[in-house]
Parts: sequence; C-alpha cells; structure tokens
Amino acid sequence: MRKITIAIDGHSSTGKSTVAKQLADYLGYVYVDSGAMYRAVTLYAMRNGFIDANHFDSRMLIDDLKNISLEFRKNNLGKDEIFLNGENIEKQIRTMEVSEFVSPIATVLEVRKKLVQQQQSMGKEGGVVMDGRDIGTVVFPKAELKIFMTATAPVRAQRRFRELISKGIEVSYEEVLENVTERDQMDTSRAQSPLKIADDAIIVDNSEMNPEDQFHMILQLAKDRIAGRI
Ligand code: DC
Repeated sequence: MRKITIAIDGHSSTGKSTVAKQLADYLGYVYVDSGAMYRAVTLYAMRNGFIDANHFDSRMLIDDLKNISLEFRKNNLGKDEIFLNGENIEKQIRTMEVSEFVSPIATVLEVRKKLVQQQQSMGKEGGVVMDGRDIGTVVFPKAELKIFMTATAPVRAQRRFRELISKGIEVSYEEVLENVTERDQMDTSRAQSPLKIADDAIIVDNSEMNPEDQFHMILQLAKDRIAGRI
C-alpha cells in the first residue's frame, strides 16, 4: 500500500499531537512532533543564557546552532522522546517557562531553516504524520493530506490547564489563557513561516467535537487519500 505524508497544523492546544499519534499508530507510520524540536532549541537557549525574561540574544543562539543536535528515540513503551545532545529532555520542554520563550525562538529564520531541513529528511520516505504550524505550508507543501486544527481560545486554555494540573504543574487558568492567546498572536504574526492555513488544508474546529469522532473522521480522510479516492 502506498505511504502518504500527513501534515497536521493548527493552533496550540487543539489536540494535534493526540490525533497525529493515534493516526501514526493506526497506520504504522512515523510520528514527528515538530513543536518538541522548537521547544528543545528554546531549552538550549535558556540553559545557555541566550534568552530570559529581559533579553533575547538571537545572534548568540544562531552562532551556537551548529552545536545543537536533536533526535527522537523510542522509550520502552514505544513512545518517541526528544534528546538534546544525547540527553533526554522530554519532560523539561513541557514547562510553562519553555512555553513562554518558544515563540520568539521560533521566529528566528536560521532556527527554522535548521529544523525544517531535519524534518524534511525525517519524512522523505513518506509514511509520516507530522504536527506543527508550518508542516503543510513549508515543510511538506506536497503532503497528500493536510489538516488544520482549531478551537476557541478558552476551550484550548481549559484543556491545557487540565493537562498541566494533572502533571502536577502549578498554574492558574488565567495564566494559561494568556499564554495561549499570546502564542497565537506571535505564531500568526511572525514574518518567517507564520501559522497560516494551506489552501488545500481541511479545517477541523474541534471546540465541540469528541476526540473519538474526530479521530475517525481524520482516519477516513487518510484512508481515502491512501487509496487515491480523493
Ligand atoms: O506544538 P507546540 O505547542 O509544542 O509548539 C511549540 C511552539 O513551537 C509553538 O508556539 C510555535 C512553534 N512551532 C513552530 O513555529 N513551528 C512548528 N512547526 C511547530 C512549532
């Protein structure tokens, strides 16, 4: 059976990664969380003092990019985890602090170039589901299936709030809502590869959709594409 490329873009906290993982598992495809790669570069920049609440030295980060090596490795449950220069940083990249600094990092052209190149090479054989912001527009403009996921900001903030609390991270709903709205703003207005809907993407607003129905709907689209029906 032919292996297609599936691009899942959309706003933050719309459940992109959940659907992408389910699809990859079901189809036996590789799943790539491109946001984890931007988060990993952000953690590197924070650790090296290139970014904090008061400043961001993009030049220093750019000069140091050659020293950043990212890879995904499967843990013993078969789940992909991200490694930065050989260190497992899967947990460290999910904090609110990283979420706050990731948007400015993701505006840097050189960062995007490096990550996009790696993403394209990971998906060059097809049989990949990748989620992010620019997958259907920049990374795989020829992807056979492009989904753009969205939901209202309060719905997304509520989901993210619950997720953080369940992980034991102390945060208020208001803080999360502010972060979600700020990231939307930065992601859609940046000059380099802003979050935008590809012309041939299918828009899925899941504010009021249950995850199972959503999965089956997208899976059917994928099956149609694989069979060459659409
Ligand atoms: O998917 P996420 O929330 O983990 O992504 C974190 C940030 O990385 C997001 O605010 C924007 C950026 N990002 C991007 O610019 N391009 C991508 N392909 C994926 C993420």
